[in-house]
Amino acid sequence: MSEPILRVENLVKYFPVRTGILVKRTIGHVKAVDGVSFDLMPGETLGVVGESGCGKSTLAQVLMRLEEPTSGLATFEGRDIFALRGSGLRKLRREIQIVLQDPYTSLNPRMTVGDIVGEPFEIHTEVAPKGSRAAKVRELLDVVGLNPEHINRYPHQFSGGQRQRIGIARALALRPKVIICDEPVSALDVSIQAQVMNLLGELQKEFGLSYVFIAHDLSVVRHLSTRVAVMYLGKIVEMGTEEEIYEHPSHPYTQALLSAVPVADPALRGQRQVIRLEGDVPSPLDPPSGCRFRTRCWKAQDICAEQEPELITRAGGHLSACHFAEEKTVVP
Ligand SMILES: Nc1ncnc2c1ncn2[C@@H]1O[C@H](COP(=O)(O)OP(=O)(O)OP(=O)(O)O)[C@@H](O)[C@H]1O
Ligand SMILES: [Mg+2]
Repeated sequence: MSEPILRVENLVKYFPVRTGILVKRTIGHVKAVDGVSFDLMPGETLGVVGESGCGKSTLAQVLMRLEEPTSGLATFEGRDIFALRGSGLRKLRREIQIVLQDPYTSLNPRMTVGDIVGEPFEIHTEVAPKGSRAAKVRELLDVVGLNPEHINRYPHQFSGGQRQRIGIARALALRPKVIICDEPVSALDVSIQAQVMNLLGELQKEFGLSYVFIAHDLSVVRHLSTRVAVMYLGKIVEMGTEEEIYEHPSHPYTQALLSAVPVADPALRGQRQVIRLEGDVPSPLDPPSGCRFRTRCWKAQDICAEQEPELITRAGGHLSACHFAEEKTVVP
């Protein structure tokens, strides 16, 4: 077995909430990420799914060293991400890239496409000497399916899907090993979403990339994901192979998310139980005691308020944090 390229252990990120005009007092913490662990294997895609506010982007920001963690450990190819400084951190910034959700606000409107895609070379001059940059940028535009002749155009001259391709070209510029995709297709039309997803799949094969693929909808990540982690209020509540999560979900939250995924086959549509989640996600400032999902869960009993369920291996071999999930069947 090969080693994970990215390993995350018990990662925590709390944002202090302060009040007062002259003297600031901390009155609480937003528990955005609250003890997340996972491994990412080389060449694999880990889908990370959950409703708005459950901490997906914060997780991405901390792994990119754009936010400092409150506690926990993360390693990239065995190197401690949070201990990196200077040249080590610069190297990490080449090897892990991020693609963001909104192709309308994440590209500088006053820069040409060539300057946007080539900007990483300004910082990492060792990757492309000045004379070779334009050729490299053209090559990148071609790789993501854009016309290299459009190198001098501005972002507003492109459609949403094309802009996201610009963002992807930029992320590829430094030949990264891992790309964190933070809802890269959520702002796009459904027909365009499929094209961008296909592109990401092709690039993954061509360049041997590993992806952490964030989405709020389980249907988006299915075809690209090797494994899926379902997050709720800062925690992973279920994680397993694509097949386990979609065919045998064991956590009520995953079951509810899946029941919201449209079914193409009309014969199957009638059979499926529709689960409507009541109410909103509780505040991450003051999450419910015990199981955080219990306030919206139809299976909840007294134990759920008293004891936090552990994320442990269940039937089928995947992880689930629910007092009422089926236990792993022990093969003698
Ligand atoms: N810089 C910050 N300061 C304070 N609170 C923050 C900060 N960034 C995020 N949060 C809070 O942390 C929680 C998690 O936010 P985050 O953006 O990670 O969620 P998300 O899962 O990415 O949601 P979405 O699907 O809407 O993108 C939210 O309650 C959010 O308000
Ligand atoms: Mg987000």
